[in-house]
Amino acid sequence: MDVVTTKADLRAARAGLSGPVGFVPTMGFLHAGHMSLVARSRAECTTTLASIFVNPTQFGPNEDLDAYPRDMPRDLAMLEAAGVDLVFTPTPEVMYDRPTDFGVDPGTLGAVLMGALRPGHFRGVATVVTKLFNIVQPDRAYFGEKDFQQLAVIRAMVDALDQSVKIIGCPTVREADGLAMSSRNARLTPAHRAQAKVLHRAMEAAAHMTGTVEARRDRIRAMLAEAPDGEVESIDICDAATLKPLAGDPTGPAVILLAVRFGEVLLIDQRVF
Ligand code: PAJ
Repeated sequence: MDVVTTKADLRAARAGLSGPVGFVPTMGFLHAGHMSLVARSRAECTTTLASIFVNPTQFGPNEDLDAYPRDMPRDLAMLEAAGVDLVFTPTPEVMYDRPTDFGVDPGTLGAVLMGALRPGHFRGVATVVTKLFNIVQPDRAYFGEKDFQQLAVIRAMVDALDQSVKIIGCPTVREADGLAMSSRNARLTPAHRAQAKVLHRAMEAAAHMTGTVEARRDRIRAMLAEAPDGEVESIDICDAATLKPLAGDPTGPAVILLAVRFGEVLLIDQRVF
């Protein structure tokens, strides 16, 4: 496995690759969720490339950029064991090597829901993912459904801007008790970790019941109250394609989007029904 840290080295290594190239962008501190994207790429592509980059532009001024967990040696060992061919690990100085205020505007899709809670977040994501696509030039790129709005923004961006990469969405990998795997879970206290399983249980209950969007939201709110330290940031039930809020009886595919804060750790999860 080759590990490169500069754009020039990445481009040079990319030029020697033939066949479909699969790409898995990450912020590191890898877990089984990330590795499921790697496995999917390995199954579908000739070559698999991953990136590890904690992207400063998608963190707000009061967010956990410095506290974001990192373990590069462990991440590289995991990628190597999984059969990844090439890893790009730029520093912020490499990635943003000249001052600019250009960026990718993620439109309405990036302004609602998590975009309203975290202003600028999806602009940062859309911009760094576009830069990575331009540098890596993958044929296919793999993203988790766990970050449902992120996946929707990236699909819409690729479509709107004629970016020539096929986006593949992959199902959420969960711990045994249902908690969605996340690099952030490592920062939960044992007490918060124990309470956090209620997110998945609440979404399952709301997905399986019959009733209006409002009744389902009430059910989720009641169940989330079982986690005394969980501060509910948002419970949204939206059209799964447009992310527009729903009301009354859901007809087509809908998605529940949850954001719950335990101390400084913001957990998000989703369930399509
Ligand atoms: P990161 O949080 O490291 O996630 C990298 C990829 O792994 C994303 O596509 C995410 O949806 C996916 N993922 C995370 N947890 C998962 C799980 N439990 N099951 C399946 N997939 C999971 O998302 C980012 O990084 C960044 O925003 C990035 C796209 C790299 C841009 O900086």
